[in-house]
Amino acid sequence: MPSFRNFVLALAATFLAPWLCLVVIPHAKMKAQEVQTWEDKELGTKSSYPAGTPNIFQQGQAVYAREGCASCHTQMIRPTYFGFESWRPGFGKEGTRDNPVRIRETRPGDFLGERFAYLGVQRVGPDLSNAGYRHDEQWHHAHLYSPQSKREFSVMPSFRHLYIKRKVRGQRSDDALSLSGELDPGAGFEVIPSEDARALVGYLMTLKKDQPLPPWLLDGEEEAEENAADGGEKSK
Ligand code: HEC
Repeated sequence: MPSFRNFVLALAATFLAPWLCLVVIPHAKMKAQEVQTWEDKELGTKSSYPAGTPNIFQQGQAVYAREGCASCHTQMIRPTYFGFESWRPGFGKEGTRDNPVRIRETRPGDFLGERFAYLGVQRVGPDLSNAGYRHDEQWHHAHLYSPQSKREFSVMPSFRHLYIKRKVRGQRSDDALSLSGELDPGAGFEVIPSEDARALVGYLMTLKKDQPLPPWLLDGEEEAEENAADGGEKSK
């Protein structure tokens, strides 16, 4: 039955092609990524890309994974020819409508050394690639405890189970959340972040996927933009 054989061959080819393009080739490319170091002779600086992550990153990332943050948040800024994330307020560094901050797109090397890359599947909430720039730790804790206390319109669920309500013993803890209104735990009680909440917020604070790229990864146009962005930053 030659037609059956053709059918099977066609079927195999149909699956083989996407498998090669979507799994094998990207995997080989990702595996070949290495930390790159270079020296700027003019400035006398040594740089490496990526610069590596602190320990809290690994711990916090595990909590990020477990709590399913990646089902609503992405960590990928697409190139401008695919979408407008790099210009969109709330997606890169926080810019304003009049003064948008152009942030570079995410590169595969940004994930080097991470066990998993939490690219995310849906953009229900803002992209978190550069979340580390936007708020301080207190803000993150209050937001995770009750997103609506920070942004009334928020559909983000509360992660209150990562916090501990306890009786104040002696003095109030330094990192107790300052809660008001309905959230106030009541006199004599305080709400403190658990170990997991601390790690998670530590992780969020390190999310700054906009490290300078080695010169050989920049192409002409981008380089000009990078330089412009750098100049803008220094003058702040
Ligand atoms: C059901 C979807 C959903 C899930 C799950 C979710 N978020 Fe969100 N998140 C949102 C939305 C929507 C916003 C925007 C409104 C707001 O700030 O609350 C947001 C905002 C944020 C912000 C503020 C970003 C900014 O630019 O100001 C941070 C940080 C954040 N989320 C972290 C997390 C973390 C960490 C988790 C997991 C523990 C998580 N989110 C889980 C939907 C979600």
